[in-house]
Amino acid sequence: MRQMSNFNYSTNFQNAVFPNPIFTASGCAGSGKELAQFFPLGEIGAVVTKSIMVKARSGRPTPRMAETPSGMLNSIGLQGPGIDQFIAEDIPFLQKNGARIVVSIAGESVDDYGSLARRLRGVPGLSALEVNISCPNVENRGQVFACDPIASRSVVEVVRRVLGGELPIIVKLSPDVTDIVAIANEVISAGADGLALINTLLGMVIDVDTMRPKLGGKTGGLSGPAIRPVAVRAIYQVHQAFPKIPILGMGGVASGGDALEMVLAGASGISVGTATFGNPNAVIKIRDELANLLIERGFTTFKEAVGFAHRSENAG
Ligand code: FUM
Repeated sequence: MRQMSNFNYSTNFQNAVFPNPIFTASGCAGSGKELAQFFPLGEIGAVVTKSIMVKARSGRPTPRMAETPSGMLNSIGLQGPGIDQFIAEDIPFLQKNGARIVVSIAGESVDDYGSLARRLRGVPGLSALEVNISCPNVENRGQVFACDPIASRSVVEVVRRVLGGELPIIVKLSPDVTDIVAIANEVISAGADGLALINTLLGMVIDVDTMRPKLGGKTGGLSGPAIRPVAVRAIYQVHQAFPKIPILGMGGVASGGDALEMVLAGASGISVGTATFGNPNAVIKIRDELANLLIERGFTTFKEAVGFAHRSENAG
């Protein structure tokens, strides 16, 4: 990394402050145990944990992953230990390793989200909550709350009510909607402090030899570089509509240049997911590359660059 002494790389999501804007992406780094073998977790902005549910869950049938052009499909199905074990084991591990922690939660019902928020209320050492209302790998499309403005609002209202002002709430939205700005509007007015954009796109791969879907769950979530332009578009549109709401951008970021694109579109933080599977140090590499690109372009703070693409358009 270039000389950083005069460069302020910090970012914030409401009152949660992070020393740099590069986070893991929920679902791609578990609770940080595997990545901790490669770098100190405190060196990145935050670890966003795999979305946790009320009860332990075994997930969808295998195979759960399929390669696609410039990306991959996953069909994990929210496998996880359940909130009690997560609080007992994963949070202490992250704290001991100096990580800033963003806990991602997912529910099958509005009540589930309320229960998860109640269990997490008062747990020390958390920076923020990611409310995942957009997992595509659920049996019932009606449970993709983020595809329905009323359901999206109900989830965020309950989490806000339970938490009061205790933790910033970052709501993760789906790109599989006609108007993502309309969904963003609902969740912001229900009390979201920030947005995570975007979750994976619903996709399918068919094996032409077996002539059947490759994934055990048939459909899966598409991630990787193939979806980056969709993410950049969503971030740009939402930042334009709600310039004061911080956005955690994600979707195929594999280099500092990819991260910069999202920052210019309006992201205040970047989550790195699929790239980590090929290179466990991707988060560190992207953190350093983005800082260098910002310094080269004359920025003295990270925040000056957030949404810059909008400003140059207005100036032109
Ligand atoms: O299947 C999964 O566990 C994926 C979750 C998500 O994309 O939110």
